Amino acid sequence: MSPRTTPRTRQARAVVTGAGSGIGRAFALELARRGGQVVCSDIDHDRIAETVEMIERAGSGTAHAVFCDVSRTDDIDALAERAEELLGGPTSLMINNAGVGIGGKPVGEIGLEDWQWALGINLWGMVYGSEKFVPQLRRAGRGGLINVASTAAFSAAPGMAAYNVGKAGVLALSETIAAELGGTGLAVTVLCPTFVKTNVAVDGRITAEAGRLAGTLMRWTGLSPERVARGTLDAHDRGQLYVVPQLDAKAIWAAKRHLPRTYTAGAGLLNRLLPAVAPTTAPTALATQPTSTTTAPGV
Ligand SMILES: NC(=O)c1ccc[n+]([C@@H]2O[C@H](COP(=O)([O-])OP(=O)(O)OC[C@H]3O[C@@H](n4cnc5c(N)ncnc54)[C@H](O)[C@@H]3O)[C@@H](O)[C@H]2O)c1
Repeated sequence: MSPRTTPRTRQARAVVTGAGSGIGRAFALELARRGGQVVCSDIDHDRIAETVEMIERAGSGTAHAVFCDVSRTDDIDALAERAEELLGGPTSLMINNAGVGIGGKPVGEIGLEDWQWALGINLWGMVYGSEKFVPQLRRAGRGGLINVASTAAFSAAPGMAAYNVGKAGVLALSETIAAELGGTGLAVTVLCPTFVKTNVAVDGRITAEAGRLAGTLMRWTGLSPERVARGTLDAHDRGQLYVVPQLDAKAIWAAKRHLPRTYTAGAGLLNRLLPAVAPTTAPTALATQPTSTTTAPGV
């Protein structure tokens, strides 16, 4: 296949943030399976080393581990420079994936430190990653950008303001870059799932009740990260901007657009009812900060 006809996600020179777990690891493994060179970055040294080892064992593609805290501009600068060296040219596919869960407290009780922590990673991390890597993508002349948002970008679930605001920003950022890259042949894809079976609820700052609910919904309704990563890469090859993999997310999107007031009233009602119906049998690992508030579905 010539470079013109090779799909964007085949033989890519790729960078994946948060590649040590969940969706990021699944992206890295799948890109390597598609013959790519993958720079796997994360704040957890052991987890990225494990991802790289998995890729090496699988025997397709190549992988490199690079530490990067996406909330730090210096780290992103260093990642961009190191990636270009390791990949032997400008990055052709950037996946801004690293993110953390936060939820369970209403506005007024979240606290500025938690707002800053969450937005520093979930929003600023993706802003830095885009700002620094889009010029490399332009130089590469093929490929594109995948940003991992969430259904939270448009669902406005109560008790999740800090998460919702960050993800809404990622959606707006991605739509804007897609317009700016129009006509270049580079694609932008923004991923908006509901639940995916990963560590996001275990590792985040999520209250006990919200964590129980998220854990239960994740077990019952969550897709596998491998399926989400494959589907998103295929959509990126087709040049698709929005990837909303689940039916519940599609229903939320339609309801929010066509019946915004009814949707908001319904979400508020669910929020008042859920503490009474949320199961109490989820693993205690999810329970990090006990409180009396809860959250509606959608990480
Ligand atoms: N799992 C879900 O249900 C779900 C749903 C919608 C969106 N998402 C989004 O998917 C993305 C991936 O999350 P996941 O579900 O795979 O979670 P995960 O916790 O399994 O993986 C997240 C990875 O990001 C890393 N990370 C955390 N903070 C970081 C930082 N400051 N810099 C670099 N790396 C950092 C973690 O070490 C971890 O390896 C996130 O942006 C998340 O918001 C997840």
